[in-house]
Amino acid sequence: MSRVLSGIQPSGDLHLGNYLGAIRNWVEDQGSHDAFYCVVDLHALTLDIDPAELRIRTQDTALDLLAAGLDPDRCTLFVQSHVVQHTQMAWLLECTATMGELRRMTQFKDKSEGKESVRVGLFTYPVLQAADIVLYDAERVPVGDDQRQHLELAREIAIRFNHRFGDVLVVPEAAIPKAGARVMDLQHPERKMSKSVSSPLGTVLMMDEPDQITRKVKKAVTDTDGEVRFDRESKPGLANLLELLAVSTDRTPDQVASSYERYGDLKADTAEALIELLRPVQARRAELAADPGAAAALLARGAEKASEVAEVTYARAAEAVGLLAPR
Ligand code: TRP
Repeated sequence: MSRVLSGIQPSGDLHLGNYLGAIRNWVEDQGSHDAFYCVVDLHALTLDIDPAELRIRTQDTALDLLAAGLDPDRCTLFVQSHVVQHTQMAWLLECTATMGELRRMTQFKDKSEGKESVRVGLFTYPVLQAADIVLYDAERVPVGDDQRQHLELAREIAIRFNHRFGDVLVVPEAAIPKAGARVMDLQHPERKMSKSVSSPLGTVLMMDEPDQITRKVKKAVTDTDGEVRFDRESKPGLANLLELLAVSTDRTPDQVASSYERYGDLKADTAEALIELLRPVQARRAELAADPGAAAALLARGAEKASEVAEVTYARAAEAVGLLAPR
């Protein structure tokens, strides 16, 4: 079975965009791939984040992933910092990557723009990400469209490393879902749903109560022409609702559109479908939260499984670059 790996930042509450755009695919890949998923707490250190908060978010994100259907018997789920080889491999790759290529990363440019002081970790963030990937010989990396450039860089670094040191690293490929999997903000349908403080009404959290979901969907921005039809360009708000109802009920947006005449009915059914979609996830989440010891044990087992692979790859890379093996 081919290897996949992906990572998610411990940003706290996961939302529908994370779930439909990424995590559902991760769950599906478990059956057909040797799948590794990590909560990237080291990457989170590039932000200003309160230490106690980081710990809680890391734990919560892991619980959310388990609740969403990641099954420790069918995948390897772990916390990045529990596997020490991530930072070790990152150093080997930092000695392969160049300032020029890191400076071109748009995410770095966006996050550092106008700042008087920029941390080195923010600059080398994509190198750590490349390390996450190559440590597991991952062939496929399921990520959102916003990670395309980071994946391209990871490929470049792996290719350069191999060119210099021999065939040591597997060169990864991004697996980016089609446009249909893009969930847009309910208040600003021209932008992707994200955990943004500026638009709490626009973001449906995976753990939102049913009445919160209903309220957010009812208030979703649409348009005034009153015609139910799937048109992403001129009716982005309505198109988003149609897509949400379509993916929740295994239909196409056009099929959904043809069975509605009024926005209100569409909204009511979309809210209902999302509540049903999330119900089992929320129930599992409550069970997991009730037994934190069990969840911690699952993560410990994940880290152990991940370490077995990471140790071998790192040793291979360290040998190739000429580090003297410890004995
Ligand atoms: N940078 C990714 C994001 O923000 C998270 C990430 C870290 C990742 N390491 C990874 C994704 C390795 C895929 C593979 O979404």
